[in-house]
Amino acid sequence: MGENYVVDELISAKAVAARVEALAKEISAYFRDTDKLVVIGLLRGSFIFIADLVRELDLPVEVDFLEASSYGDAMESSREVRILKDLRGEIAGRDVLVVEDIVDTGYTLKHVLEILATRHPRRMEVCALLNKPSRRETDVAAKWVGFDIPDEFVVGYGIDYAQRNRNLPHIGAVRFVE
Ligand code: IMP
Ligand code: MG
Repeated sequence: MGENYVVDELISAKAVAARVEALAKEISAYFRDTDKLVVIGLLRGSFIFIADLVRELDLPVEVDFLEASSYGDAMESSREVRILKDLRGEIAGRDVLVVEDIVDTGYTLKHVLEILATRHPRRMEVCALLNKPSRRETDVAAKWVGFDIPDEFVVGYGIDYAQRNRNLPHIGAVRFVE
């Protein structure tokens, strides 16, 4: 594939904001009895999503980050997941919300959840902004999903292609051109 591409808008910034607000309402209701929810953002793709989501949550929250790597600069998952940056806090006995940008094959989320489960959180649920159901190769599922999308490579709202386009306010699909 060539290096030149354009980005076609797939989901507008307004539509994302409305969906984030709706997700936050559901999540706030679900964790209403939790004294302090640990919201874990998977770096780097979730950084804008988690920032918007936690500001809409009607709950006391603690924010932590974990960086797992599977892609490098490639468009395909390597299906091997490494922890590049671990959490700072403990999650044993805590209620945890894992915030992911995209669930594609599902390998990243599956491995991350397996690792976090060994630390015995009280409850652990997942909120993913985007989901590509047609690409799934594992049995992992997010309790909350912002949008199901087709098998397109997307960028924007924190999500990159080779570290570019994270700062786009909307979500767009990458289309290669001559
Ligand atoms: P999975 O392990 O195949 O589910 O891949 C999940 C990770 O791959 C996501 O957290 C993203 O960081 C990245 N990813 C998957 N699809 C895309 C995409 O369309 N654009 C950018 N990154 C993606
Ligand atoms: Mg990611």
